[in-house]
Amino acid sequence: MPAPELIAERFTLRPLREADIPELTSACQDSEILRWCMGVPLNYSEETARNYIEFSHDAADNGNELIWGIDLSGTFAGIVSLYNLTDTSAEIGFWLAPVLRGQGLLTDAARVVLGFAFDPLGMGLDEVTWTAIAGNAASERVAIKLGFSDIRCEEKGTQGRPTENGTDTRLDARTATMTRKQFSHIGLD
Ligand SMILES: CC(C)(COP(=O)(O)OP(=O)(O)OC[C@H]1O[C@@H](n2cnc3c(N)ncnc32)[C@H](O)[C@@H]1OP(=O)(O)O)[C@@H](O)C(=O)NCCC(=O)NCCS
Repeated sequence: MPAPELIAERFTLRPLREADIPELTSACQDSEILRWCMGVPLNYSEETARNYIEFSHDAADNGNELIWGIDLSGTFAGIVSLYNLTDTSAEIGFWLAPVLRGQGLLTDAARVVLGFAFDPLGMGLDEVTWTAIAGNAASERVAIKLGFSDIRCEEKGTQGRPTENGTDTRLDARTATMTRKQFSHIGLD
């Protein structure tokens, strides 16, 4: 299933497309994205972006991962993804281009994706997990605003950037899981 278009007031979430290559490449030079998102390769080039867009379409076709581009009036601004997909669960990942941060955009975009993930008419998942490298305060703040609670520390709970000699680079993580029931109660208390 391709990532379906999800329309919100400030943005549209949609599959990645070739026209996103310049903005995607530019955003992925950002030191914060490279510091906290281990899946984003170093030395990111237009070729890397092209491969990632192709990967995003293949991953959707294979049912492994759904990747949405955040589209602000036709301009690509960032990513929200649901990865490690199973019939009942997923993990959520995200990043936003540096100049657009601090306006609540990513929280809104991730909330729309969670709505689709939990909606029985959408993906009908039972739970979604957020995980960040320990110390990523902005990501943790987003998770809290989204309603993730009982955030716990997992020692060496996430994969770090691979090294050339294959040494273990696992890093301490912060993680929490939200259920559909918890999501449906957010804002109703
Ligand atoms: C995490 C990220 C996506 C947030 O995007 P954003 O659009 O700025 O998010 P929002 O505006 O919705 O919310 C960010 C919140 O974090 C807070 N914040 C930002 N930097 C912070 C910091 N260094 N320490 C504590 N809080 C911080 C903001 O004040 C805001 O909280 P508030 O609304 O209570 O004021 C963005 O910072 C980013 O792309 N970072 C690099 C990539 C990354 O870390 N991705 C997540 C990997 S797990």
